[in-house]
Amino acid sequence: MSGSRIDHARTVMQRIEALGKISDDPNCLTRKFCSPAMRRANALVGCWMQEAGMGVHTDAIGNLIGLYQTSLPKSKIFLLGSHLDTVRNAGKFDGPLGVLAAIACVQQLDDSNTRLPFDIEVVGFADEEGVRYQSTYLGSKVLVGTFNPKDLKRRDSDGISMAEAIRRFGGKPEAITKARRDPKRLLGYAEVHIEQGTILEQKNLSVGVVTAIAGQTRMHLDFTGRAGHAGTTPMSSRRDALCAAAEFISAVETLARRTNGLVATVGEITALPGASNVIPGEVGLSLDVRHPADPIRERAVSAFRRKAIKISRRRKIKISAEIVHQAVAVGCDLRLSASLIKAVKQHQREVPLLPSGAGHDAATMAAITPVAMLFVRCKGGMSHHPDESVRLEDIRIAISAMEGLIEGLAAEI
Ligand code: HGY
Ligand code: MN
Ligand code: MN
Repeated sequence: MSGSRIDHARTVMQRIEALGKISDDPNCLTRKFCSPAMRRANALVGCWMQEAGMGVHTDAIGNLIGLYQTSLPKSKIFLLGSHLDTVRNAGKFDGPLGVLAAIACVQQLDDSNTRLPFDIEVVGFADEEGVRYQSTYLGSKVLVGTFNPKDLKRRDSDGISMAEAIRRFGGKPEAITKARRDPKRLLGYAEVHIEQGTILEQKNLSVGVVTAIAGQTRMHLDFTGRAGHAGTTPMSSRRDALCAAAEFISAVETLARRTNGLVATVGEITALPGASNVIPGEVGLSLDVRHPADPIRERAVSAFRRKAIKISRRRKIKISAEIVHQAVAVGCDLRLSASLIKAVKQHQREVPLLPSGAGHDAATMAAITPVAMLFVRCKGGMSHHPDESVRLEDIRIAISAMEGLIEGLAAEI
């Protein structure tokens, strides 16, 4: 894939389309951790990495890693990348855009026979969305050494343990702890990602630099009442788990609407036994809570817990609430972001600085190395939706900005 920047952008767009067809679900784009579709995606992206002059391997958990080696021995490594897994019924750009833009940068280096004073590694993370195991950042946690081995026991909806899924994928659960990276060898991590918001569109700009990534708490709550006959059980004697959950969900929305900057979402719900003429006795639901400031998020989570207890007492429902994932808010590295801003300025009159409400692998990578993120305008701010879309010209500018960042880093060494 040689040629000009716009050719590289065109190639990225074509590859986005090709990857967008690789799914575990024939009816929509869903690519889950260690799934058959993930294996096909890794194989395809691995070929594109090789085409760009990289050596390719997958690590113990299934992260796809391309290495563009400098000629100097024992050099440092600059990491680029994003995730290759998706949510259910996903858009094509969330994740893959970052991996493919990174490959395009390396392609440009390889085309021009440029050898840097450091290695570049492009990482396609194996699990950022957490769809299969309600985890998130599994891939980047392995690189930073914060992967929790207890998570290997988690089971998916088919009862397959994470360890088994990794083994079937060709990974090595027992070697995960050894896959962590030595922070001393890393120069930093940079990620291109769709904005998943509308600020760039409102400003009519292609890209912006991310200042911080909001913290997030993901919970699972179970409401246990008593199933019963829908036709013969008087309303006064019911212990309807779904009505309790509905009251809770509405209370979550009310509190979130009242708290500036807080977002709270119930994205998954199951009601059993799930028959139209049976009062639901058991309900399980997910709760996703985010805010740029951790204390506000934590206060909201405690308020939601108290509300659930109050509802359960009044309705004589048993309630359990478990935190399944938690990540603190993370600031992007000021020095690396300044270099990125400088690079963007070569291509764009103004460089908006944007907080991220969405989580990203950069939030995990920040534990061991400086991180910077570049947001790319996306239509209507739409994401986690099949209508996700990005303009070709904006991809061109993103690739050029990332190349500028890499050149700037090389000049500093
Ligand atoms: O949920 C998120 O913020 C990201 O898409 N994983
Ligand atoms: Mn993402
Ligand atoms: Mn996402």
